[in-house]
Amino acid sequence: MRITRLAGGIVFGLISCLGVAFYAAGRNQGPSDLFKQYCAKCHGEDGTANTPKGKQLKARDFTDPEFQSGKSDKDLIKTVTNGGEDMPAFGKKLSPEEIEGLVKNDVRSFRKK
Ligand code: HEC
Repeated sequence: MRITRLAGGIVFGLISCLGVAFYAAGRNQGPSDLFKQYCAKCHGEDGTANTPKGKQLKARDFTDPEFQSGKSDKDLIKTVTNGGEDMPAFGKKLSPEEIEGLVKNDVRSFRKK
């Protein structure tokens, strides 16, 4: 009786550990779907712009610390909304909330820790 309860406890513990691990892994799985859909073509799913289009247009490497510290969220939101030299404008395609999320959650997430 006692043994079964102990075994049950261990099994339950293992399962919940796995659950937490999977949950955590899922949350760290890189860029959002929105980023993959609209931005990864040039900026790459890893943010380094190491894609044919990214290299051709010289898109920014989001993992570059100088890039990350050189611009404020406001600057970046402005560029994504209005476009840059070769960076397309997304102000008509995406809502301000979506653009803010892309900058704060995706672009900033590539910052090297
Ligand atoms: C067609 C290729 C292309 C796509 C698609 C693209 N970008 Fe860019 N992006 C660029 C290029 C090229 C630059 C380099 C700066 C410039 O051209 O103005 C850039 C620069 C940037 C910068 C840096 C701006 C700065 O002030 O230095 C940010 C932030 C950015 N892109 C975010 C995004 C986000 C978010 C998306 C998706 C919604 C996206 N980009 C989609 C090509 C692209």
